[in-house]
Amino acid sequence: MSSRGASAGYFPVPPDAGGRAGRRWWDSHATEYLAEHGDFLGPTDFCWCPEGLREAEAGLLGPVADRDVLEVGAGAAQCSRWLRQQEARVVATDVAGGMLAAGRVLDAQTGVTVPMVQADARTLPFAAESFDIAFTAYGAVPFVPDAERIHAEAARVLRPGGRWVFAVTHPTRWAFPDDPSERGLTATRSYFDRTPYVETDDDGRVTYAEYHRTLGDHVADVVAAGLVLDRLVEPEWPAGHDRTWGGWSAVRGARLPGTAILVTHRP
Ligand SMILES: C[S@@+](CC[C@H](N)C(=O)[O-])C[C@H]1O[C@@H](n2cnc3c(N)ncnc32)[C@H](O)[C@@H]1O
Repeated sequence: MSSRGASAGYFPVPPDAGGRAGRRWWDSHATEYLAEHGDFLGPTDFCWCPEGLREAEAGLLGPVADRDVLEVGAGAAQCSRWLRQQEARVVATDVAGGMLAAGRVLDAQTGVTVPMVQADARTLPFAAESFDIAFTAYGAVPFVPDAERIHAEAARVLRPGGRWVFAVTHPTRWAFPDDPSERGLTATRSYFDRTPYVETDDDGRVTYAEYHRTLGDHVADVVAAGLVLDRLVEPEWPAGHDRTWGGWSAVRGARLPGTAILVTHRP
């Protein structure tokens, strides 16, 4: 065994190591993640973010009934299950088999089943122009060094006029400690520092990596994919919402945006 030691912090790692870590981490943490957040997400509900914004009230995807809809980075496919109930023809995809297996359990428990395909959002196994809508609620994009490939794939599989909508941690959060208390309100890092947040094991192997992009980076990525940006949604922290999710809390939500949702379409 090497003795490089486990570590966590902001440091560069080879891009392929960071991208691969996503699959392994979500495979092995699926049960733990859903035990912590599953009730809040709801097995057949469509929650965009820790602020609790639901698609039922936000309508960011537009009409979904009778539309072909693709979810990437779907996790246990809760959003897809809600879409199925709205009569969308939906397919849920995720790179981690562990998350999809958890989704199968929810299928059985709820009686609402969705087709699921294991796939990296950077190489989707679908023909061009197969979908009317594609989206992700915090899936895939934060966990890869090359998110521009995800946007390019979304653009490819969408029909002209189709929407690509994705939610990510609001980029401003990267300048602050990921701490739900008052300590998380003082900027300690440069917003412009794109160094990823990385965790390694005792052998120095990357076990988790999350990538920062500024708002300008996200806009540049979707424009480069040939998409048009229609809206940037910054959900406010609702009064009375007191659930803490990692660094998201009422304390920080009162002062800082926590989520950015970009609504785009293929012309
Ligand atoms: C925070 S969860 C989001 C899923 C769901 N909306 C939720 O809130 O549980 C992130 C998901 O992104 C998936 N993911 C990470 N990297 C991916 C990639 N390259 N392609 C597809 N999915 C990926 C993970 O496996 C995980 O299920």
